[in-house]
Amino acid sequence: MRTTLSVIKADVGSVGGHLTPSRELLQVIQGHLRQHAGELLCDRFVGHTGDDVALLLVHTRGAGDEAIHQLAWNAFVAGTAEARRQGLYGAGQDLLKNAFSGNVRGLGPAVAEIELDERPSEPFLFLAADKTDPGAFNLPLYLAFADVMNTPGLILSPKLGKGFRFVVMDVSSAEVDRVIELVTPEEIYDLATLLRDTERYVVESIWSRATGEQAAVVSTSRLHNIAGRYTGKDDPVMLVRSQMDFPATGEVLAPYHLGHFVAGCMRGSHQMPLMPVRLGSSVSFFDGPPVVSCAAFSLHQGRLTEPVDAFDHPFWDTVRHRVAEKAIEMRRQGFAGAAMLPMSELEYTGVVERLERLDKRFQVRTRC
Ligand code: 13P
Ligand code: 13P
Ligand code: MG
Ligand code: MG
Repeated sequence: MRTTLSVIKADVGSVGGHLTPSRELLQVIQGHLRQHAGELLCDRFVGHTGDDVALLLVHTRGAGDEAIHQLAWNAFVAGTAEARRQGLYGAGQDLLKNAFSGNVRGLGPAVAEIELDERPSEPFLFLAADKTDPGAFNLPLYLAFADVMNTPGLILSPKLGKGFRFVVMDVSSAEVDRVIELVTPEEIYDLATLLRDTERYVVESIWSRATGEQAAVVSTSRLHNIAGRYTGKDDPVMLVRSQMDFPATGEVLAPYHLGHFVAGCMRGSHQMPLMPVRLGSSVSFFDGPPVVSCAAFSLHQGRLTEPVDAFDHPFWDTVRHRVAEKAIEMRRQGFAGAAMLPMSELEYTGVVERLERLDKRFQVRTRC
């Protein structure tokens, strides 16, 4: 059976600032899906990470299906109405257009979809991050799929050893989709050259070279390309299939022990370490730190098992402590240097107007 996993995610309002959606908002979204899914869905899961609500929809209609996207859009519209009713902050934040037009891409919500022929056992991971952008997944994906120091499967398993094909998107291109395909291991230096620039080049998908099967997909939307102003970070979602021809679940999770610095946190304008957290976690310190959650599932004949909370293990408590210390250390330098994002990433904020005003006050002094 060809199954499609569609994750569609949006921030449509949150309690107490950009912290977390309300219980009622989540209930309204779940209720909408329950009432209106009809025969469309085989199964579903609704979760939230920080202030972002993600719908994992299982169906057989393929990626980009209008009815599935419409269902998700309508659920978020219903959630927005509830957010307005409760006076939540940023009600409808990620619904940037008023009308649905066939597909939620380009309308604000983030989308990650994968079509697959179910293996006898189909383990997969659903990761969602808040207060950061899709480039946050560049390093963890590179390590999991291309670095033998992280993934011994690359030498232990003949199929993994054939390598992977990475599709990388240039997210600075607003009008057209600019993508490049690179294969590992031959082109790892080229891949690393692009992936180091997380604000411009983002892994969109990864494919097995042994079987041609898709291993991973990341949402790659850039809200400021759609809105033309800062409306929040692009808080990404990702699906990764694991085991057998793909890296093991533990190899996919391992890179998150790094707490690597990512773009985002307060007003989407800083560099802060990414903290792996439990499902349904909020954010706190400095509207952060940026967080990533992971629900592990097995899929069978279109049905999901219960989610296993992959970062809910004593090991990750130590990581969280280290990441918190790293975050505090970075915040000690306030707006200075590496703590804040470069100008190119701030261009959709008030900094531009301030600089324009100040620019007029500069005087040219003659050198003597
Ligand atoms: P299994 O032998 O249980 O499949 O586990 C192998 C593995 O991938 C462990 O990392
Ligand atoms: P979100 O993108 O998660 O809504 O956060 C916006 C923000 O500016 C937080 O400081
Ligand atoms: Mg928000
Ligand atoms: Mg968010």
